[in-house]
Amino acid sequence: MTESLIIAIDGSAGSGKSTLAAALAERLGLATLDTGSTYRAMTAAVLHEDLDPANNAATAAFAQAAAIDDLDGTVINAVNYSDELRTAEVNSAVSLVAANPLVRQVLVSWQRSWVALRRGGVVEGRDIGTVVFPDATVKVFLTARSSERARRRPEEGLASIERRDELDSKRESSPLARAEDAMEIDTTDRPVSDIVDLVVASIPKQIHRA
Ligand code: DC
Repeated sequence: MTESLIIAIDGSAGSGKSTLAAALAERLGLATLDTGSTYRAMTAAVLHEDLDPANNAATAAFAQAAAIDDLDGTVINAVNYSDELRTAEVNSAVSLVAANPLVRQVLVSWQRSWVALRRGGVVEGRDIGTVVFPDATVKVFLTARSSERARRRPEEGLASIERRDELDSKRESSPLARAEDAMEIDTTDRPVSDIVDLVVASIPKQIHRA
């Protein structure tokens, strides 16, 4: 059996994960999964249901019973949250929902099934190389200067980005962290094509699809 090609991309908000994931997916003919959107959609659904995102038990019970679509995880219980993923309300509540270990259990299991169904993929998030796919083919950990990260997320602003990064890095359950065997790349002044070349070059020959 051939090994699935899984590229794990982790990093803080605005570090360039989505841009790199899209470019890599195109080069390698793989599908991409933005796991941040799954946490955002779950948060939007929790708010939509008038649940308090700080109420861990209620939020976990909701997540455990939720029907999540198998396309990108943004349709929950038949309600499409794709237009609400980046509202100020979701930005301010998502780190709270993502810190809930039972919610993470539900979404991590969904994320693993998503990849299994496609026999591989480019997956971006905060804990992909450390928790979701510790055996990923290649692990990348992206960083970028704060000013550049804020420039990439003008609708959110630096204060909100830094607040989320702080919460996401300090939480107990699967915090944002670089896997020991991840390549760390600063994307601040680096063309995407350079980074794609670097990542593709690190794929072991026997599972190279480019
Ligand atoms: O990538 P993003 O900024 O859209 O992610 C939104 C939030 O989801 C982020 O603040 C933390 C959480 N998240 C997470 O905890 N684990 C992941 N694998 C992806 C995102």
